[in-house]
Amino acid sequence: MSIIGIIGSGNIGSVLARLAVDAGYDVVIANSRGPESLAGLVEELGPRARAATTAEAAAAGDLVVVTIPLGRVPELPAQSLDGKVVIDTCNYYPERDGDIAVLDSHELTTSEFVQRHFAGARVVKAFNNIFAQNLGELQRPAGAPDRATLTIAGDDEAAERVVTEFIEAIGYDVFDTGPLAESWRFQRDQPAYAGVYTESGDPAEPRRRTPDELRARLDQADRSIR
Ligand SMILES: NC(=O)c1ccc[n+]([C@@H]2O[C@H](COP(=O)([O-])OP(=O)(O)OC[C@H]3O[C@@H](n4cnc5c(N)ncnc54)[C@H](OP(=O)(O)O)[C@@H]3O)[C@@H](O)[C@H]2O)c1
Repeated sequence: MSIIGIIGSGNIGSVLARLAVDAGYDVVIANSRGPESLAGLVEELGPRARAATTAEAAAAGDLVVVTIPLGRVPELPAQSLDGKVVIDTCNYYPERDGDIAVLDSHELTTSEFVQRHFAGARVVKAFNNIFAQNLGELQRPAGAPDRATLTIAGDDEAAERVVTEFIEAIGYDVFDTGPLAESWRFQRDQPAYAGVYTESGDPAEPRRRTPDELRARLDQADRSIR
């Protein structure tokens, strides 16, 4: 696993690109405006990173991160990620994304919505419940007492292993919460949303949560919240 494709170069995409490069991965990153607009970012990231179109980032990545506004996911060609392991970081903000009926009715979780669009990919939910700034500051070497733990969800064990290896390599432990259908438990505004990875959510006070604490937060989730 050496090339990470990143679709979306905003708050989360740019931080993940930095963490991936620092961990020794090659990065191919794309946004909606085209590779020229990413010249400054890839220069900062150094020789392991290059800018590309979304199609190129999708094709190049052994692992592909989709980190764009959820409402814009359907703009990406559905078959462009066939056969890929895909990390979905997206959250649902109707005021930004527009109303999405299958989410409002709870027919699908947000990651099932992404999985349904990319039917030929294997989607793993990750990074949706950590602030971008925290993501770029709380990474720690394996075994550090204050290394934070991030939640994932997925329906394909092999894909989850690939994603776990990546997350561990960039500086975090991983807690597997179960299938995508249950991943509403750490969607927006649930107890296991922002702040779950540290005691207070304050990057000045990082503290690794135990699996029991994470489980308790997931168990407190209330489907009616969103
Ligand atoms: N910000 C956070 O702390 C945070 C934390 C966890 C999860 N999230 C979620 O993760 C996702 C990304 O958040 P963000 O804060 O990084 O967003 P952001 O800063 O607004 O960046 C969004 C990126 O998506 C790109 N984009 C939009 N439509 C696209 C398309 N059709 N094709 C290719 N690229 C497209 C944009 O390209 P241009 O730059 O060319 O417009 C931009 O680079 C969202 O769903 C968000 O809810 C955010």
